[in-house]
Amino acid sequence: MEEIKKKVMLSGIQPSGELTLGSYLGAIKNWVERTDEFDNFYFMADMHSITARQNPSDLRRRTLQQLAQYIACGLDPEKNTLFIQSHVPAHAELGWVLNCYTMFGELSRMTQFKDKSAKHKDNINGGLFTYPALIAADILLYQPDYVPVGEDQKQHCELTRDVAQRFNGIYGEVFKIPEPYIPKIGARIMSLTDPVSKMSKSDKDPNGSIHLMEKPEDILRKFKRAVTDSDTEHCVRYDPETKPGVSNLMQIYSAVTGKSLQEIETEFAGLGYGAFKPAVGEAVIETLRPIRQEAERIMKDKAYLESVYKEGAKKASYTAEKTLRKVYKKIGFVER
Ligand code: TRP
Repeated sequence: MEEIKKKVMLSGIQPSGELTLGSYLGAIKNWVERTDEFDNFYFMADMHSITARQNPSDLRRRTLQQLAQYIACGLDPEKNTLFIQSHVPAHAELGWVLNCYTMFGELSRMTQFKDKSAKHKDNINGGLFTYPALIAADILLYQPDYVPVGEDQKQHCELTRDVAQRFNGIYGEVFKIPEPYIPKIGARIMSLTDPVSKMSKSDKDPNGSIHLMEKPEDILRKFKRAVTDSDTEHCVRYDPETKPGVSNLMQIYSAVTGKSLQEIETEFAGLGYGAFKPAVGEAVIETLRPIRQEAERIMKDKAYLESVYKEGAKKASYTAEKTLRKVYKKIGFVER
């Protein structure tokens, strides 16, 4: 039988904070479901993390923990290429090249640069500014058909396409132009204390987000305290416009139990927020418990973790270097 080549998909997350329930329900859970459909590359974007100052031992621990968590969430390292960005030097190498094909004006227009430089006025470094060229390299090295994009990554994906088209326009078809991939059921999980902003690993308010490794009693406490809406009806009804707090909790409950929003409204009819909030907390605890336990177990198995990231880097390098060689040749570098 003729083997059908699968479409290639790629994504990464920076190990600059603890992975949250939002990272799991919004991204990683979808990655797990796509394992067989696509040829997948997933990485820990440690090179991106250093655009903000990191504590070295924390960065190292979080990078390994993130890999353990990917696996604990169900990403099978035999079927997905899981690797650490800095282990594949082609990212830095193509990143430099693409810096020279990305315009100052384009980089100046990136909203993430504007946001981040406003937040960290004391460390507006060159890396923060040219970061999108490294993202373009991360993506284009693997010639992916798709890049899954959330709202906050859309601009990066567009810039990547522009840079790739510019490069191809000069040198011929070197890069595949990736399409943005918007998951059918992308749960967008919001902060528990500020339900109009996304649950984020870099949130200053620890009560706004749930970490994958969090203790059950802390999870329950945060859900009991979650902001609900100040309307008077006090009933569990889905309406993100006027009831963003309750609607977010319903999204979470739906994602972890598989129940529809309609079923949830029926289940809690007449019960009010006081019964609903701890029920969401308990359901989240049961979903995260096996993930936490498995991640803790994997974290202790250093030899296994090492074998996974070494194998991942080898597989990723094979594809990445093929692209890099082509690029070097096209732009006129002498062959090594
Ligand atoms: N920017 C992403 C984050 O903030 C990580 C990332 C780096 C990424 N390079 C990428 C995501 C390429 C998708 C594709 O977590």
